Amino acid sequence: PTRVRVHHLQAAKDRGEKLAMLTAYDAVTARIFDDAGVDMLLVGDSVGNTMLGFGTTLPVTLDHLVVAARAVAGAARRAFVVADLPFGSYEAGPEQALASGVRMMKETGVSAVKIEGGVRVAAQIRALTDAGIPVVAHLGYTPQSEHLLGGPRVQGRGDAADVLQQDAVAVVEAGAVAVVLEMVPAPLAARVTEVVRVPTIGIGAGEGCDGQVLVWVDMAGMTDWSPRFAKRFGEVGAALSSAARAYVDEVRAGTFPDAEHRFDA
Ligand code: KIV
Ligand code: NA
Repeated sequence: PTRVRVHHLQAAKDRGEKLAMLTAYDAVTARIFDDAGVDMLLVGDSVGNTMLGFGTTLPVTLDHLVVAARAVAGAARRAFVVADLPFGSYEAGPEQALASGVRMMKETGVSAVKIEGGVRVAAQIRALTDAGIPVVAHLGYTPQSEHLLGGPRVQGRGDAADVLQQDAVAVVEAGAVAVVLEMVPAPLAARVTEVVRVPTIGIGAGEGCDGQVLVWVDMAGMTDWSPRFAKRFGEVGAALSSAARAYVDEVRAGTFPDAEHRFDA
């Protein structure tokens, strides 16, 4: 399959074709999602909540994401792979962002990095872009700021709508190739989508965006709880549980392994 590249993302928006993005943190799921036709894979710092048991994204390090990003980029044949830059790896300024972004690009094979924030990180987006590193911006609810924002809450209501729109314009002027909009009122996300040239990718931002992203664990129904905006497209957690139970039962009963799964002398 032809690799999805930045100009394909832009062409999709220009033609009115929706982009489907999922998170992935390892080679197994990356290959499954890539084969399923997912256009963009995000090696998100949501790995902290979903896979590493941290509860938040804050403890996730560049080392964690480099390992995961290498696995995902190595497994994906078609998808455009984006890796988050984690909390603490870009806020200090353009030089820090550039060092983190360059390391991610050198060591993993991803096609872009993502950072959270608007005007406040425009200089970082410019520095990365000038170095040839595509940047995806992330506005609205930004989990790396969860303590400041008071947890996962809708952003951009009332007077904050204009500020969010200005942030979107600023990140695109700085060079962002796409903008993730998380937990933003649907009418505002639709307005931002019309105003900016590059694709918007929504999560809890309604149907007006150019694409959608979900955390795969939520999308596949891996856990009991998932956020309201994250539709469960499967019950993979239950399927995995029943496979594990069947395995345990057969081991205990002595019916596995049988002749097929054994080596003879
Ligand atoms: O880390 C992540 O999964 C994300 C998405 C929610 C956009 O940043
Ligand atoms: Na993230």
